[in-house]
Amino acid sequence: MFPTHRPRRLRQTAMLRRMVRENILTTSDLIYPLFAVPGEGFAQEVKSMPGVYQLSVDKIVEEAKEVYDLGIPSIILFGIPQDKDTEATGAWHDCGIVQRASTAVKEAVPDLVVIADTCLCEYTSHGHCGYLEVGDLTGRVLNDPTLELLKKTAVSQAKAGADIIAPSGMMDGFVQAIRQGLDEAGFENIPILSYAAKYASAYYGPFRDAADSSPQFGDRRTYQMDSANAREALKEIELDIAEGADMLMVKPALAYMDIIYRVKEATNLPVAAYNVSGEYSMVKAAALNGWIDEERVVMETLTSFKRAGADLILTYHAKDAARWLQA
Ligand code: PBG
Ligand code: ZN
Repeated sequence: MFPTHRPRRLRQTAMLRRMVRENILTTSDLIYPLFAVPGEGFAQEVKSMPGVYQLSVDKIVEEAKEVYDLGIPSIILFGIPQDKDTEATGAWHDCGIVQRASTAVKEAVPDLVVIADTCLCEYTSHGHCGYLEVGDLTGRVLNDPTLELLKKTAVSQAKAGADIIAPSGMMDGFVQAIRQGLDEAGFENIPILSYAAKYASAYYGPFRDAADSSPQFGDRRTYQMDSANAREALKEIELDIAEGADMLMVKPALAYMDIIYRVKEATNLPVAAYNVSGEYSMVKAAALNGWIDEERVVMETLTSFKRAGADLILTYHAKDAARWLQA
């Protein structure tokens, strides 16, 4: 007996395959992360992330122009401050590094959408994402005092010109607090992209080199999610939606495709996937060894995020992907 149904009929030529292709990655889907540091004319490659740099504000502006010229609509800014303290002053100060970078980029490339990552871990002396009881060496971040600092941070970022606020610290009620803060300051039109389902993940390792944000003691497991949990992600997004989130993020992406899929099923809000540092570094390491075809692996991975349900993808591969899409 020969088969009646022959799915291979539609795979015979590149043109046929193109006609029945279900998901297409476009440059519009991409968001490029950048790390701003103090100084001038400074660019230093992150050891564990080949092709990714810590950049002074003038270099960030150059990079933003390049990103924009490649057709990528948006960047997300992380900051490494001159000084760190227990109040995370560098996060909410009007002259903070992300604030200065936001203003400079918006001045040079007004059209580019600037997302400000809103968290405290790069700015606290202990490296935790929030406020700690004085003398606490366990890392049990105090939720509500942290909300006040996050509110201040978001407002100063919006004042500096950031177009979207992206809180990433997984504090309870952070979307509501930031929404209220933004509204009271007259920024009711600034959207919130919530890191809604963010897992306590070993895949963040290289980022913590890049952002100099490793916790000095303890870990982030009392605020970031347990990687074994899926239903809990739905609870997190439900809360963030109720609190007024405009977009939702799942992070990391590759090991959490099921979460991207479930979140997409559960909401009509745009869903972003964060293809995190460790995912990037693994691909880079294998590619540099000649063990994989970097372009094909990256494009397959990014397209798969779309298939899983992501509308937007934060990725360190964004510039390369945009170039490959042009070719
Ligand atoms: C923390 C934060 C993290 C990342 C971005 N913001 C993770 C963490 O240190 O817990 C990770 C991004 C990446 O790995 O690319 N607010
Ligand atoms: Zn943080």
